[in-house]
Amino acid sequence: MVERRLGVSGSETPANKPATASPSTLGVSSASDKVDFDDYSASYDDLLRESTKLYAEDSEYFARYKIDLIRDAIRDPVARVLEYGCGTGRNIGHLQKAFPDAEIVGSDLSAASLRIASENNPEVRFEVERTDLDLGRFDLIFVASVFHHIPPAERPSVMETLARRLSTGGSINIFEHNPFNPITRRIVNTCPFDADAILLKPSELRSLFRGAGLQTQRQTYCLFVPPRLSWFLPIERFLGWLPLGGQYWVGAGHYR
Ligand SMILES: C[S@@+](CC[C@H](N)C(=O)[O-])C[C@H]1O[C@@H](n2cnc3c(N)ncnc32)[C@H](O)[C@@H]1O
Repeated sequence: MVERRLGVSGSETPANKPATASPSTLGVSSASDKVDFDDYSASYDDLLRESTKLYAEDSEYFARYKIDLIRDAIRDPVARVLEYGCGTGRNIGHLQKAFPDAEIVGSDLSAASLRIASENNPEVRFEVERTDLDLGRFDLIFVASVFHHIPPAERPSVMETLARRLSTGGSINIFEHNPFNPITRRIVNTCPFDADAILLKPSELRSLFRGAGLQTQRQTYCLFVPPRLSWFLPIERFLGWLPLGGQYWVGAGHYR
């Protein structure tokens, strides 16, 4: 069942799967530099915990935080949710809790990561991304820490794919590392699976949305305060305009 889901065509190697990764410096990338997350599927959790432990001891915190933000902001009914670039499925359980009546689908380029995601979430449908993959339309598309791994020249066509998969009243919600935050840049510079990272500003995402015929509906910086300073967490919602959060969130939908 899992194998069938991972490769609709019967193959686990999608046509758009990148060549084997080789390390590169931040800000310099070519197609052959692209990190292959198959190589990191087993170690992903440990590497993430190691690189973010100074900010939050519990690396689950980041998934919970982002999905809580979305759940609190979404007003329209959500029947289908896609996590694009879901990796090993760290966000999937949180999406299920936030949208208990919705069908959740996860997709990624990395078949090895999806195998782990499927083992941990056997009731969820996972698909390896391919250019001809038809998943239907979604009310909510969630994308976390994926775009900085996509070479800039490929970003417009990925955004067009996401726009095609979006229902009329639905929203695409993209979380990205904030390039203006020096601590974020340091974490990215030292994390092995970020070797191909080319960070993008919110303005680039807004322009990608525009290029795909979508209207930006929100932009907010987030993850300012480490969870151990929980006293200060309530002030975060007043700081969304301040470009100092560890990450930012940009959301868009079809023009109404
Ligand atoms: C840093 S991981 C983030 C995984 C997950 N979103 C999370 O928050 O834990 C980046 C993921 O993006 C995937 N990815 C990179 N380029 C992609 C693309 N063009 N299409 C789909 N997934 C992609 C990688 O395979 C990897 O699993």
